[in-house]
Order: sequence, then C-alpha cells, then structure tokens
Amino acid sequence: MRDLEPAILTIFGITGDLAKRKLLPALYHLAHDKLLPDSFRIVGISRRGTTVNDVLKIIEVSISSSGKSCDKTTLAWLKKVITIVDMDITIPEQYSKLKHELDIIEDSTGICLNRLFYLAIPSTLFGAVTDRLGKEDLNNGCQHGVTESRLLIEKPFGYDLASAKELITTLKDSFTEKQIYRIDHYLAKETVQNILTFRFENPLFSTSWDKTHISHIMITASEEIGIEGRVTFYDQIGALRDLIQSHLLQILALVTMDRPKNMDAINIHKAKEAILKKVLPPAADMTSEETVRGQYDSYKQEVGNKHSTTETFAAVRLYIDEPRWQGVPMFIRTGKALAEKVTEITVAFKDSKAPECLNYLTIRIQPNEGIVLNLRIKKPGFNQQVEDVQMDFCYNEKLGVSHPDAYERVLVDVMRGDKTLFATSNEVLASWEIIEPILYAWQSDRQPLYIYKNNSWGPEEPANNLLKEVSGEWLTDILHVCNVHLPELTTIKHK
Ligand code: BG6
Repeated sequence: MRDLEPAILTIFGITGDLAKRKLLPALYHLAHDKLLPDSFRIVGISRRGTTVNDVLKIIEVSISSSGKSCDKTTLAWLKKVITIVDMDITIPEQYSKLKHELDIIEDSTGICLNRLFYLAIPSTLFGAVTDRLGKEDLNNGCQHGVTESRLLIEKPFGYDLASAKELITTLKDSFTEKQIYRIDHYLAKETVQNILTFRFENPLFSTSWDKTHISHIMITASEEIGIEGRVTFYDQIGALRDLIQSHLLQILALVTMDRPKNMDAINIHKAKEAILKKVLPPAADMTSEETVRGQYDSYKQEVGNKHSTTETFAAVRLYIDEPRWQGVPMFIRTGKALAEKVTEITVAFKDSKAPECLNYLTIRIQPNEGIVLNLRIKKPGFNQQVEDVQMDFCYNEKLGVSHPDAYERVLVDVMRGDKTLFATSNEVLASWEIIEPILYAWQSDRQPLYIYKNNSWGPEEPANNLLKEVSGEWLTDILHVCNVHLPELTTIKHK
C-alpha cells in the first residue's frame, strides 16, 4: 500500500458529524497502520477558528469512544501533516486563499500531488463549492495531466430524480465523471465486496443463481439507533431515500447482476447499471400491495412535528424484468429504532417439487460478518427425523484478521484512483427511477403509516404480508449468524 499516490486531501466540513464519526478516525487508523505516503497532506476547511489541535482532539475523542486509546506517534505525525484553512466556503473570493495554501503545501513537499476534495457538507452546497474549485483551476492536478484532481461526495445524491439530474449536470460543469467519486460506504464494507467473488467464484452458486433455483431474496438493514439528532435532515428524507435508494439498491444490484466481462471497474459498473435499469418499480395502483411504511412511536415527539409522516421504516417488494429473475420477488427492508442492528442478504433456494423445503444462504454484512448456509439433515438417532443445521464461514472466528473499516477503504481507493466501489451517475439515476413512484404514492397519504414500538421489528404483520406468497416472514430474528455466544442452533420455521 506504500505505493498509494501522494495526495493532498482537502476536507470541507472537518469539524462536522461525518468527519468526527467516520473520516477522521479512518485517517487516524490509516496513519497508525503506516499506510499513508510520507508526502500525504490533509487540509481542513473551517470557518470557526478551528486549530490543528482541535482536530487532533476530535480524533482522540472519537478513538477513545470506540474503547481504544490514541497512539502518540501517530498523533504527532498527523499534527505535522494537517493544515487548517480558515475560510467561508460560501464566499467565492476566499477560494484563492485555498489555492494559495495548496500551492505552498505542494512546494514544501517538493512534488506534485493529487488533489482530493472531500465534500463532507450538505449537498445543497456542492454546486457552489465545485464551481469555485473549477474557477480557481483546482479541478486540475498541479501539473495538468501529471496529477489529478478528484472530487468525493456523500449521499444523498439529490432528493428525487429531477434534483439528482440537476446535481449531475451542475457537477459536470467543473469535474468530469471520471473525477467524481460518489461514496456509498456500504459498497466499501468487506462482506459487500465479497458478494461478487462468492457468487462468481463458486460454481455451486454461480450455476444456481437464477429463477429456477431461487425462490426469493431478502435484504435487511435494521438499525437500533433512531435518528440521533439529525432532525432536519431525516424528517425531509425518510428511510426509503436514506437507505433503500442508495445502499440497499446497490446491494441488490451486486446480488442480481450478470457476470461482468471482467472484474474491473468499468465492466462491474456496466453490469450494475444494466440490472438496475431492469428493476421494476411497483405500478402506481400496486404500491399498497408492494410496499409498507412505518414510523417508530417516539419519532413525532423527537422531531417536534406532530404531523410528520416521514417513514422510519420501509419495506418493498420488487421484481426484475430480466429472464434470469422472472417472477422472483426481491424484498428490501430497513428501519430505525428496531430490535437489532443487522444488515444481511438472505437468498432462499427452492426445490420446485418440494416447495416447503428451502435452504437459506445468508450473507451477513454486519455485525458478525460471515456467510451461513442453512441445511436440513437427518437428526442423529434411530428415527428418521429432520433437523436444521448451519454451515458457516465467520470472518472473526475463521480468518482471525481484522478488516479495514469502510471509510478507510474509501480513502485508499480514491488515493489509488480505483472507482469500483463508488456509484456512477447512471446507477444513481436508475435507483431514483425505481423508488420515485413509491415516493409519489406515499406522499399522497393514501397508504397507511404504521406506528411501531421502538425496539421492535417494525410493523411486523404488514411487512410479513409482503412475503405471504413465499416463506411468509423475514428471518432476521430467527436465523442467528456467526454468533459465537449462541449455545445451540436455532430451528428455522418451515412453512
Ligand atoms: C447512512 C444513513 O448512510 O448510513 C444513516 O444516512 C445510517 O441514517 C447509516 O444510520 C448506517 O450506516 P452503518 O454503516 O452504520 O450501517
């Protein structure tokens, strides 16, 4: 990894929530593991008189909140490489100051560096910032053609299809598609990266990954946390936009796409874009059959809006208009203030001659990362009884290695210019096309908003009703994946 290209990472919003929770800890870990090049530099943009010591303090607090303590040598190294530029990003004239600072830093390292601009700021400011970066020629590396300028942006990429298109057009004025890295941190999670390898490197599964062998696929991303103070953001966004439009449709694409011609970024994106374009949104008159929305019962009070109809739980059933997946329902569910934090994909394998028998393959993305296959075997003994068992591969137990956090991977990939784990503009647009009809239907308020108890599994009955044609229920609370503390295997309910 020492071959990472030297770069200056400029962070807009260095004291913001994202920088505190994800970005700065990721930088600390990369520095600690000596993965950053010696000439790597960090520039923090702030207009609050922030100092380098303030940033180091944020890092210390963040690392200690994860139960670890900071290593002094790493902090000392970070202190040397961080510069703070005090500027108001809404004032165009102040960008020349930024350019001047970047030039000084480059001169001091004696080499030409890639310029990475990380916009950890509200998306409403993206256009203004990129416009100014362009006008100052910061959308080019310090020697045109030798080094590159790259732009990293965080979701939400728009609020709906029209605003997503507008954002894409605005950014294109200053940065090319090649330069734009749209972060979807779920793609950088280790188990998500394993989906394609697992699917295409194992003939047992690659040859049976279709409608003949698969009854249905379930994707769950449940969270125990509520909205954690992000009132303004969340009350306008809701669960469908927050997780399904981005992370979970990206996962669906990886699970259902065709084998790419090559496992390179271009071909993987081509295959993902192709499958996302084939995902059918529910027909306007079918949204109440195909979708469920809910809200946790303390939500309205938390956001101080007793009329809020923002969903904190969303479940959808989708179909894909592609011969391989004809008639196979894809279920996606997400919610906040639920019983457990779980992100997983479960693929139900069927035997058309014995529909009551299903084998579940679960790819657990977090926590307890692993892959588990539920099998049915003869229970040892004199009688012919059937028992459910699990064959598992658990990252922690089996590999005994820790894997990089998603944001470490994001930063490493942008430094090496690898766009595989970032979303393309076509993927973003295709995902909006899928969810927009649901957004319209939900706005009309014709569909019930189920209020569910905090720490429950959400509106269980309607959510399970979506699955009534198949197994009849979501399985997260039944399957126990890679849980080392579980004393015995849990029996799956077969319908
Ligand atoms: C973000 C959402 O993209 O992902 C948050 O905006 C959500 O609402 C978060 O809590 C979940 O990420 P993770 O990595 O904790 O599963």
